[in-house]
Amino acid sequence: MSISSIGVIGAGTMGHGITQAFATSGFEVRMVDVSDDALHRGMKAIEKSLERLVSKDKLSAADRDAAMKRISTATDLSALKACDLVVEAATEKESLKLDIFKQLGGLCREDAILASNTSSISLTRIAAATPNPERVVGMHFFNPVPVMKLVEVVRALQTSDAVVETVEKLARDVGKEPVPVKDSPGFVANRILVPMINEAVFVYADGLAKPEEIDTVMKLGANHPIGPLALADLIGLDVCLEVMKVLHDGLGDPKYRPAPLLAQMVDAGYLGRKTGQGFYDYQ
Ligand code: 3HC
Repeated sequence: MSISSIGVIGAGTMGHGITQAFATSGFEVRMVDVSDDALHRGMKAIEKSLERLVSKDKLSAADRDAAMKRISTATDLSALKACDLVVEAATEKESLKLDIFKQLGGLCREDAILASNTSSISLTRIAAATPNPERVVGMHFFNPVPVMKLVEVVRALQTSDAVVETVEKLARDVGKEPVPVKDSPGFVANRILVPMINEAVFVYADGLAKPEEIDTVMKLGANHPIGPLALADLIGLDVCLEVMKVLHDGLGDPKYRPAPLLAQMVDAGYLGRKTGQGFYDYQ
């Protein structure tokens, strides 16, 4: 099926990044969040990111303006009724996602594709919350979305081949590289990446080295673009903790035990860049 109008649920870090990727590739996008404030912050972040691309001659001012014009916003899910595809990028809580998909199932056209950007929650359970589970699929983008090339295309047990093919083509149309993966806790990327971050938190908590030293070790010793603790701050410590809990519960292996310090920092509200404090201070 051909996709022209796209809905994105969530104006946070991932939601506004995904909205930007579609809008700069010529798609009409409607971004939905629960409050005007959240939408305003999301639109400001898109403007800032596009400005960065213009200042580096990677985007013309005319293309920036055209992309901004393709984005509309709304605070009600019913605004997504006519979309060919919806990507949900709401908070990483299973009960919230199940509720959103239940609503989308009753709202959207029967042939509309319902995708989730979940970083680890079971797509099979999300699909089961809708009346047409064969059209539910994972479209897992990476942060920062304008820069990162990968989209994991996650196939739930129920997802049809046609839906996987359409979403893979769409990912290519927005300049990304789709990789098909099966539904399993953390899929592929986060099953490998987030335990590494979790281990870095244990290393710090054990007093082996300071955050900047741990990050330098991984940058210079393993050629990572940023170290694991700086990456945790970029992703959000709350998201990292949720992923570890899903791996721990879903795979039942104690090796996925979340680092107690990670949980403590989340309790303290030290979520990384988005709150101004994580393993580093961004104030
Ligand atoms: N919008 C537009 N452009 C951006 C941007 C944004 N939000 N963020 C960075 N850029 C561009 C910069 O303009 C710059 O462009 P240039 O090469 O033309 O100068 C380029 O990206 C590099 O940026 P910087 O020079 O500012 O900084 P770095 O060299 O440190 O790169 C980074 C930043 C690309 C974020 C790099 O540090 C990196 O690749 N980090 C690892 C990111 C990563 O692993 N992401 C995956 C997270 S896991 C995830 O998202 C899954 C989830 O489910 C948890």
